[in-house]
This record gives sequence, structure tokens and C-alpha cells, in this order.
Amino acid sequence: MNKGIAIYPGSFDPPTNGHLDLIQRGSKIFEELVVAILRNSEKSPMFSVAERLEMLRALTADLKNVRIDTFNGLMVEYAKSIDAVCILRGIRAISDYEYELQMALMNRKLEPTLETVFMMPADKYSYVSSRLVREVAQAGGPVKGLVPEVVEQKLREKLEPAYKFHDANIVEVPADEKRDEKKTSNKKRKKKA
Ligand code: PNS
Repeated sequence: MNKGIAIYPGSFDPPTNGHLDLIQRGSKIFEELVVAILRNSEKSPMFSVAERLEMLRALTADLKNVRIDTFNGLMVEYAKSIDAVCILRGIRAISDYEYELQMALMNRKLEPTLETVFMMPADKYSYVSSRLVREVAQAGGPVKGLVPEVVEQKLREKLEPAYKFHDANIVEVPADEKRDEKKTSNKKRKKKA
């Protein structure tokens, strides 16, 4: 186990199973892991910072060396303020690498004493991102297995109308409606003939 505090910064909007997988892996490697939610994101988030904080706290309650916090401004400044020695980031696929490399090198320029460490989440989460989870959920699609149950429930509450729309669309057509449909298409066929 590495001595010292590591910081795992991100938006976590919402936290996914990939994030949780990385937190679990990180907690085994570092003495203390601080999951830090960016507060001043330019994007308009789906979940408020308070909601993300609550979800992440619930998800990591059993990990004694994991703490959830929020930060504003430069991440390296926050990292220094809590005496972190390491930044943890996840890389899922090669497509993540370019952005992550840029960010790691910029952070090194800003604070040369802070090392960035990359870890891979389980391959079954290699396609899971918060952005895609939001997109699927907003369209009423299923996100089971992509996010923890607590998050799935929160998404459901937030997007209740979208889920209702999805549920309504998979409802079986009643037998009498099917019969009516058949009659209409038979009539059309006769007309054509
Ligand atoms: O989960 P995300 O959205 O990819 O996380 C990006 C995050 C929050 C780690 C990054 O945007 C960040 O650290 N922002 C804080 C501002 C900062 O320090 N910018 C310089 C980093 S290169």
C-alpha cells in the first residue's frame, strides 16, 4: 500500500459502475483516497453537487479509507490543500488517453510534485461513461448494470416521465386492438387487389 493521500477528481454526473470499480481498486492501493467532485463545472449538470456527494457517500460507505469531498478552481491547488501526493484517473480505452495525457502534463506543469497514476476499470465497464448513461436514461432506456442501484433509482426519480414513456412503449398491445389492426390491414389488402 502506498503511503499518503491520493485524489480521484471528476464530475461524477452521475457516478457509474466504472467510477465505483476504480474507487475500489484505488482504495486497495492508496492509504487514503479522496474522491473530489468538481463544483464549478461549466456544463449544466443533471445532478446537483449535493446529490452527487450523497450518492458517492452512500456507495463508498463500506470503504473506510475513502472520503468524498468537493472542490472549486484548480484541482492541483485543492490537492495541495489536502496534502495529496497523487492524482488517480481512469483510462477505459485509447480514446481516453489523449485527453488524459494532456491533463496529466498540464497538472504536472502546474504542480511538479503531484504524480498522476492511471488505472483501468474492469473491461466490462470499458464503454460506460456518465455522458452515455445520461443520454440513455434521458431517452427512457435501461441503465441497469451500468450504474449502481442507488444511482439507477435517482435517475428514475429525476426522469420519471421518460421512464413512463419507455414503459408505455413496451406494453403489450391488447388483443382487441390487435384484432382491429388485422381487420384494417385485411380491408386495405382487399382494396388493393
Ligand atoms: O470526470 P471529468 O469531467 O473528466 O473530470 C475532469 C476534471 C474535473 C478532473 C478536470 O476538469 C479538472 O481537474 N478540473 C478542474 C480545473 C483544473 O484544474 N483544470 C486544469 C486541469 S488540466
